[in-house]
Amino acid sequence: MNENLRSWRFDTKTVHLLGERTGDTSFVPPIYQTSTFQLKSAKEGADYAISLHPVRFYTRWGNPTTHILENAVAELEEGERALAASSGMAAISTAILTAVKKGDRIVAQKTLYSATEQLFTEILPNFGVSCDLVDARDPEKVKKALSKPARLLYLETPANPTLDVVDIKACAEIASEKGALVFVDNTYATPYNQNPLKLGASVILHSATKYLSGHFDVTGGVIVASRTFIEKAWKTLKIFGPSLSPFDSWLIIRGLKTLALRMERHNHNAMKLAEFLEAHHLVENVFYPGLPKNSKHSVAKKQMRGFGGMLSFELKGGYKAARKFVESVKLARLAVSLGGVETIVEHPASMTHGMLSEASRRKAGISDALIRVSVGIEDVRDLLDDFDRALHQG
Ligand SMILES: Cc1ncc(COP(=O)(O)O)c(C=O)c1O
Repeated sequence: MNENLRSWRFDTKTVHLLGERTGDTSFVPPIYQTSTFQLKSAKEGADYAISLHPVRFYTRWGNPTTHILENAVAELEEGERALAASSGMAAISTAILTAVKKGDRIVAQKTLYSATEQLFTEILPNFGVSCDLVDARDPEKVKKALSKPARLLYLETPANPTLDVVDIKACAEIASEKGALVFVDNTYATPYNQNPLKLGASVILHSATKYLSGHFDVTGGVIVASRTFIEKAWKTLKIFGPSLSPFDSWLIIRGLKTLALRMERHNHNAMKLAEFLEAHHLVENVFYPGLPKNSKHSVAKKQMRGFGGMLSFELKGGYKAARKFVESVKLARLAVSLGGVETIVEHPASMTHGMLSEASRRKAGISDALIRVSVGIEDVRDLLDDFDRALHQG
């Protein structure tokens, strides 16, 4: 690692970290598109077999291209180590399966990405792990939930798709008193806007499919934590097998170089669009932590440097108007996923969260009128025109 690294600022790190290579002189890291590596001796092979996270043995165990990405994300999140996986859910499942065992209990925030919620409520109970969902926006409720023993507290802030903000520091202090680990999904905020480890979290999860890569061309995930946790998680990952491919690692590396620039624009555009929607007569509610009227604005201001590129809003006309709106935009596109350079819109109640029961959606605060927007990096004036026109078509 470059000796200057620690003194560099975030934007410089995103550009130059990824120049840390594997000893050769290529300007851009090579893609080690290989499943296996030739061994110099039988002893070398035997040593690798009992080593931790070797990156030149077998690609399910590690790969030099992927390792460049892992080092970079660990540095950006100010964590000791990182581990890449083939999707955000692969990272989340790997981290959770590393931390829990039969009989354990998880306390999780009530609004989560749908597959994370399904992991907690539909899959883990089959293995003797229970989960209680709480409104973690209120630390007192977290305290109450943690008065019964729990292995970990799982947070997602801002949360998908309601943009709920949780006070990470307050919750981490409660969890630490009770001996529970704190997991934070930092996908929405990215390390550009928020560093949960510095606020007391133990483990960070990312869907690298989103802002880290930034171009809707790859699925990937990353876990950031202590060296000890990542070594354990690596063992889980190499057995379950959702390793990130070298080419996908390379695509995320390329995307990461412009993370700071992209996030600056995402933050700016989302704020402008949120202000526009807040003032619009056809809009009932806008959920964006950057708006001073947002109930969690002060918490967001305390723990985030910027408020991110995601927002959601409710239309006065309910389900019908929301579905009509997502089909009426022309510049923004109708699609699930988020965090890329293009603006996309979707209808959570029937799309990203449509597989949850109506009761679960209600509990999570996802109404039929809710529209989720991943605000891109276009000229925001074109976005405002597009949204205004689409709103009037409802
Ligand atoms: C907040 C959040 N976490 C995790 C995931 C899962 O990521 P992936 O689709 O890469 O598995 C998503 C996907 O939308 C997400 O929005």
